[in-house]
Amino acid sequence: MTTTRDLREAAGTEPITMLTAYDAPTATVVEAAGVDAILVGDSVGNAALGYDSTLPVTVEEIESRTAAVARATTEPLVVADMPFLSFGVSEADSVENAGRMLKEANADAVKLECGPHTVETTERLVELGVPVMAHLGLTPQHVNQLGGYHRQGTDEAAATELLELAEAHETAGAFALVLEHVPANLAEQVTTALEIPTIGIGAGPETDGQVLVITDVLGLGEQTPPFAEQFGDVRAEMAEAVESFQTAVETGEFPAEEHSYHESDLEDLY
Ligand code: KIV
Repeated sequence: MTTTRDLREAAGTEPITMLTAYDAPTATVVEAAGVDAILVGDSVGNAALGYDSTLPVTVEEIESRTAAVARATTEPLVVADMPFLSFGVSEADSVENAGRMLKEANADAVKLECGPHTVETTERLVELGVPVMAHLGLTPQHVNQLGGYHRQGTDEAAATELLELAEAHETAGAFALVLEHVPANLAEQVTTALEIPTIGIGAGPETDGQVLVITDVLGLGEQTPPFAEQFGDVRAEMAEAVESFQTAVETGEFPAEEHSYHESDLEDLY
């Protein structure tokens, strides 16, 4: 079983892998490949729930998906993503909502999309025994404030602010940091400055690990961000299977004799 401590110890020694998963069958495939951590990301909003951003995702939705992933796996670290406004508004709500992820959904840790306001939240959660993965750079829950899903930390002031926030969250007790859509040379500097592992998405090769959204990896989504790699074409395979079913029923090929069962006692009902 992978622990937050294992991830901390892996920093700088071996590449850490993390993928999102939102259901049990996908989680078992991810586990079988030996991936270190599964993030039940609020990207479930776009990837599986039909929302056009992550903002509508609820605590209940993440909790239920996290529970499914945790039931299906034993080895990877399971990280529940805290939805928009479920943390950082009041301490009591942050603790209650993060607590639900560990107590009811069996997550091993939570992830927070961070800013200056989450330093204190991180400190409090860690103090109470809730491991926190911090997330800086492009934080999609701020899409309305950022005016889109643009690269972050691109000028000196923004890069310095990001580095300082990364250090503040490490000091507050975060066990790892996700860096999303930032220049590779900034991600490298943050990685060098921190002892905790950095896990990049669109942040170049110098972070301690890499994370991607599972639907991008599988080729299941309709769009893939420019920094993601599509490693399969599952959408095409699904389409082929579904079309084959449609045709087989229309032509009478399915169900065939081997899919049917006859009970001899029922031959003479009429
Ligand atoms: O929600 C998510 O999937 C994420 C990853 C992109 C890091 O936050």
